[in-house]
Amino acid sequence: MPTSTADQLTSAEQLLAQLHWRYAVKRFDASRKIDAAYWSAIEEAMVLAPSSFGLQPWKFVTVANPALRAELQKVSWNQSQIVDASHLVVLASKVEVSKQDVVKFVERIAEVRGGGITPQLEGYRDMMVGSVSNPAMLPGGSMAAYTRSQAYIALGFGLYTAAQLGIDACPMEGFDPAAYNKLLGLTEIGYHATVVATFGYRSTEDKMAGLKKVRFGRESVFVRK
Ligand SMILES: Cc1cc2nc3c(=O)[nH]c(=O)nc-3n(C[C@H](O)[C@H](O)[C@H](O)COP(=O)(O)O)c2cc1C
Repeated sequence: MPTSTADQLTSAEQLLAQLHWRYAVKRFDASRKIDAAYWSAIEEAMVLAPSSFGLQPWKFVTVANPALRAELQKVSWNQSQIVDASHLVVLASKVEVSKQDVVKFVERIAEVRGGGITPQLEGYRDMMVGSVSNPAMLPGGSMAAYTRSQAYIALGFGLYTAAQLGIDACPMEGFDPAAYNKLLGLTEIGYHATVVATFGYRSTEDKMAGLKKVRFGRESVFVRK
């Protein structure tokens, strides 16, 4: 923890240095695996991601099985990261957030925080049930858009954490979600493949690693009023 302004600036510099260091890896070094303690931190960071109402309408499907990875690669534009990355996570979104899901979440709040289901918690529950029962009014205008957008927050948390730990990654949308749903049995459990994150270590042969980062400048991205 930084204790002075100077320490804070140093840690801000370090943090940004890692964000400049990271890039979307095109070629992983298939021989290098992420240490279990680091991997555990990345998983936990994804679990800690915020979501609308806190409902966490997602599953994070990790795929270690090489044969299954090979099948996924065929429906992922044949991208090499799918088989070469140390770790692969499919971030899947809940197709339908139901009243039961809200009730389960409220029970979890009571379990974690204690104090039982208070009238206040009941009010929160009823408000959430009202929202998820009227998908057209949800942010994004549909249940699919609503739950999908939550998965990207967890993706960001995973990518950010990896970068801070010096672990490489590539976020990936270049795949066939319907084929993923089938191969991973997601439809049966009420989820839909949204986005993939691969993690590992860059290959020395990845030409993308040396390229300058292309971003619009802050002055054109931020609108200040
Ligand atoms: C949602 C999302 C999907 C992406 N899909 C792919 C992909 O399928 N394959 C790939 O090689 N890169 C993919 N990328 C990486 C982007 O091309 C990359 O992040 C972008 O060009 C910016 O470069 P940088 O991440 O190296 O700074 C994706 C990035 C995001 C955020």
